[in-house]
Amino acid sequence: MDPVPYFRAIINEPHPTLHKAAKKMRPEELLDALVQQMIDDMFVTMYAAPGIGLAAPQINVSKRLFVVDLTEEREEYRLGPLVFVNPRFTVREGEVESNEGCLSVPGKVGDLKRYERVVCVALDRNGKRFEVEGKGLFGRCLQHEMDHLDGTLYIDKAQNIRAAVTAEEEETASTEGESTSSGDGDEAALSA
Ligand code: NI
Repeated sequence: MDPVPYFRAIINEPHPTLHKAAKKMRPEELLDALVQQMIDDMFVTMYAAPGIGLAAPQINVSKRLFVVDLTEEREEYRLGPLVFVNPRFTVREGEVESNEGCLSVPGKVGDLKRYERVVCVALDRNGKRFEVEGKGLFGRCLQHEMDHLDGTLYIDKAQNIRAAVTAEEEETASTEGESTSSGDGDEAALSA
């Protein structure tokens, strides 16, 4: 019988784990049933938040791993659940500004610039290398999660950090994400 995934507590700013660089994973770690369980737990925790991305440091595990799922958000992001282990960007280009929130910084949003397009290389949960292009909401989500692995929160970079007031800001703040009120206007909250 497969183990049942369970919710993990999401830690909040100013927890020290959120402010330190996470440790690179050894591929053999992915053979550990407890690590596979942790990945399942991260999805369950992310969906419950609800969020579209969650990085291991947010559950107080300082490893270079994050999960993303934008399936529900937009037709064009039908990528399904993705696991990124030891991710890195091979391309970062363009610039886009939007507002962003974070599950570890509840109730707040801020404005910040991100690359418009990134290409990310990582290992999946089976240790297989893959590459994915991220634009728009997906691209910003990847950058938000990558920052978590480097011990950086969006509030370290953002301008005009404020309590979420509008319905859209509430959604952004409560879903740990970014939304794009100043972007294309057709993108939803990014919860990461
Ligand atoms: Ni976050």
